Amino acid sequence: MIRLDKYLADMGIGTRQEVKKYIRQGRVLVNEEIAKKPELKIKEEKDQVSFDGANVVYATYEYYMMNKPQGVISATEDKRDQTVVDLIVDKKRGDLFPVGRLDKDTEGLLLITNDGALAHRLLSPKKHVDKCYYARIEGKVTVEDVRAFANGVNIGTVDEPERTMAARLEIVESDAISTIRLTIQEGKFHQVKRMFQAVDKKVIYLKRERMGSLVLDENLKPGEYRILTDEELKNL
Ligand code: URA
Repeated sequence: MIRLDKYLADMGIGTRQEVKKYIRQGRVLVNEEIAKKPELKIKEEKDQVSFDGANVVYATYEYYMMNKPQGVISATEDKRDQTVVDLIVDKKRGDLFPVGRLDKDTEGLLLITNDGALAHRLLSPKKHVDKCYYARIEGKVTVEDVRAFANGVNIGTVDEPERTMAARLEIVESDAISTIRLTIQEGKFHQVKRMFQAVDKKVIYLKRERMGSLVLDENLKPGEYRILTDEELKNL
């Protein structure tokens, strides 16, 4: 059971204050009757709630897989830029957030949910969850780079070193512009870009393909998303 104002706010209808106003204005029906009290207790599975004539179905958790496009930021809200949460037009919950951050110019797999415990499990450095990236690099990527990344590189400064954990670098194509796959188990700020900087190379395109057991669905074009399957959720 949950209070009507919380039910509506959780589903993103408005803030607690706003939904109280909507209730006063008679815009909220519970089981086809105008609701008068914000503190009315609602049985999430049984009672039927509507706002301005549209059903509001309660969802405890939502899980979306997105292929994040470039130009959109990994945040819940932003004054200037569009965020990944803005892109989910049919969300029910008002408290969704991206699990980890991809840079504005990075594409690829992003999990968007309101399940804080799952996010913690996936992001905690202690859990060693793989994050696999595909990238194009300016410069010839070499076996020395593979070795350096396996041993860890300094992505900080001489005075304030910041060493990375062992990472797996796979060279797909080594040329003036190289193509690689890199698997890391941490998520330091701009980590992939700074790792290549540490070996004097520049990332010119970056896409995340996998996080733990979750693999980016190839059918999702940049900007598209879908609900996680039960199987994907179970395996996470
Ligand atoms: N590493 C980066 O440098 N950028 C990202 O967006 C993700 C990992």
